[in-house]
Amino acid sequence: MKKPILRDVRITDFIRLMLLRQDKEVSENLKHSSFVYFLLEIWKIITFNGPIRKVILANNQIVGIINLTKPKNLSSEIGYFVGKDYQGKGIATESVKQMVQFGFSKLKLNKIYAYCNPKSIASQKVLLKNGFIKKKNTKDKRFYFEKPIRTTKRF
Ligand SMILES: CC(C)(COP(=O)(O)OP(=O)(O)OC[C@H]1O[C@@H](n2cnc3c(N)ncnc32)[C@H](O)[C@@H]1OP(=O)(O)O)[C@@H](O)C(=O)NCCC(=O)NCCS
Repeated sequence: MKKPILRDVRITDFIRLMLLRQDKEVSENLKHSSFVYFLLEIWKIITFNGPIRKVILANNQIVGIINLTKPKNLSSEIGYFVGKDYQGKGIATESVKQMVQFGFSKLKLNKIYAYCNPKSIASQKVLLKNGFIKKKNTKDKRFYFEKPIRTTKRF
């Protein structure tokens, strides 16, 4: 499979993203699982200057989404999912790599962090393979990872 490509979300991507996200295993590992919340998120992306969201394209098909929250103090949270049929092919690992490069070089972030469900081994592997460091358990029992700028080359 060719390297995945990230592109800005369009309103016409919405149905495809909803279908990919419907899978129980995918949605239960995401912070917000309600349909309404996701609908509002998509609406925010289109109408306001909110999070940076990119669809993940593999072989010209949308297979997932990846986002960085609106930066606060040059710090942003990364989140992502890949549809069930496309998992285990290195797509998330490569997409996180590209988004991290974008965050540090284009957005000039100092830190990118992530929370993940302790049960999601795949998500933890994706972060560790991208140089994120597991810091501490959060109060809500999710794991917290961060990647400071010093571990990434500036281009
Ligand atoms: C986490 C997720 C994005 C991984 O996507 P992916 O494209 O399958 O990830 P990759 O193919 O890059 O795999 C990364 C590693 O996880 C492993 N992996 C993939 N699926 C796995 C699974 N179900 N169980 C255990 N390991 C798994 C891969 O083998 C790989 O490890 P390796 O390099 O040692 O072989 C995907 O499983 C997903 O969308 N999950 C639900 C949503 C979620 O958890 N999002 C993260 C919130 S921050």
